[in-house]
Amino acid sequence: MERDIARILIPRSRIRQRISELAREISRTYGEDSQGLIIVPVLAGSIIFLADLIRDLPFKMKIGLMTISRYRGAATTGGETQLLQDLTIDITNRHVLVVDDILDTGNTLRTVKSQLLQRKPASLRICVLLRKTAKAPNDIIPDFVGFDIDDVFVVGYGLDYDDNYRNWPDIGVLRPELYE
Ligand code: XMP
Repeated sequence: MERDIARILIPRSRIRQRISELAREISRTYGEDSQGLIIVPVLAGSIIFLADLIRDLPFKMKIGLMTISRYRGAATTGGETQLLQDLTIDITNRHVLVVDDILDTGNTLRTVKSQLLQRKPASLRICVLLRKTAKAPNDIIPDFVGFDIDDVFVVGYGLDYDDNYRNWPDIGVLRPELYE
């Protein structure tokens, strides 16, 4: 696995530190509303981020699962997205925080957001670990961002290429010859 990574972009220690900061930002923003918050992770890329983030959040919460299809394998973006598995929990009148690994063109989060808004939550906020600033859309503006990064294809810490590398503990840049 190591030889497929061209370079480490964000080391695990920096990720760890930033997640603690994000958790504090989230707690501060929600205040009293944090009790009973519903977290909706965008699967599967957010699983490791989610696991670390929620253990730093010191309040009672629920996790609602939904599955969105995205491009697989090819390291390109902007493809079609669709709802594959509906939300497992009722979010009507509840405060909802969507957690995703990376915001690129915004197609994925646009689909998620429109699906969730139909269910009339009390509020809907978005937290992403990474934001690629090059294509960041005007209509999907995350409330919490871990790191802004350049337009490079990254893997590790939950992010995959063809479902590989999710278990790489740092965020690294995949060697371009592997996907070009
Ligand atoms: P959109 O374009 O929908 O992209 O905002 C978000 C989704 O695209 C995938 N993506 C990546 N996955 N490394 C990855 O492993 C990347 O550099 C990358 N850029 C986009 C990912 O599924 C993300 O949720």
